[in-house]
Amino acid sequence: MTTPQFYQLHNANSPAQQAAIRSELTEGLLLPQATVSPKYLYDALGSRLFDAITELPEYYPTRTEGAILAQQLPQIAQQIPKGAALIDLGAGSCEKAARLFEALQIAHYIPVDISVEYLRHTVQRLQREHPQIRMSGVGLDFSSSLALPPELMAQISGRPVVVFYPGSSIGNFAPDEARALLSRAHALCATGGAGGGLLIGVDLVKPSEILEPAYDDALGVTASFNLNMLLNINNLIGSDFAPQDWQHIAFFDAKLSRIEMHLQAKRDVTVQWPGHSRAFKRGEDIHTENSYKWTLPGFAELLQSAGFAAPKSYTDAKDWFSVHWARASVA
Ligand code: AVI
Repeated sequence: MTTPQFYQLHNANSPAQQAAIRSELTEGLLLPQATVSPKYLYDALGSRLFDAITELPEYYPTRTEGAILAQQLPQIAQQIPKGAALIDLGAGSCEKAARLFEALQIAHYIPVDISVEYLRHTVQRLQREHPQIRMSGVGLDFSSSLALPPELMAQISGRPVVVFYPGSSIGNFAPDEARALLSRAHALCATGGAGGGLLIGVDLVKPSEILEPAYDDALGVTASFNLNMLLNINNLIGSDFAPQDWQHIAFFDAKLSRIEMHLQAKRDVTVQWPGHSRAFKRGEDIHTENSYKWTLPGFAELLQSAGFAAPKSYTDAKDWFSVHWARASVA
């Protein structure tokens, strides 16, 4: 029986990392337009609230992507070489990748997430269900580096490398950062055997009547997800944010082609944390997330600027969401 391997390359609890988090949050909170990275939406409760969002009637991306993948899998599989190493970025529950294993005949599955602890239990179960696939979980902050351990690189040497990045998580990066991340994914694919590439899910531009409710649902789950960031910040820097003083705002900026999420002060508030304080006037806000929406030609151009070949793109009947397969080499 094969046993999975695990590598933790990112230690959120190290003193250096904690100091970096404190200074990043402090710097963002003290900006004239206070800004906090969306990565701080995902503490343990935030991750559960996000899972709940994916079940909401208004939040179409997850189910639409699932339907495209289910329907188009045979066609997608025809283009991807068998025996690949599948690198699953932001793997979480590994659920989406597991649906690809059989059709793609994956030889080595490499889920990557910020903490290997999120992966351990699921990967052990998946390994029992798929003993023929080698599995290696990696704890890594892939938004800054995609450098896998040399030992793991040696194991996949010669195999086509397929990077899987579903869920339109690429939309949470500004176009320049998205290009940089895709270039790193391209470099990783290019280290492998012929035929590797990127399989990625991307949300598309559509009327704001559809987009805005997806980020401001009737049950208030997205509002709770956004407000929970304040509790996470309190835990991380010892601040005294009171969620009841804040409200969730989400709107589509058609010019920038992105949903913006903010937390707006409901009254004048002063927030304190060790060594610092910030006064917010009623109506002032903290910018907490961008979710970019792409057009098919715009995303194809982004992929090509990161080094990939022109993609094969798949959408649903309403053109709400897209899945792209882009080879790493143009040949
Ligand atoms: C994870 N990411 C792709 C989600 C999105 O749609 O941008 C995060 C999210 N924010 C609010 N709802 C969902």
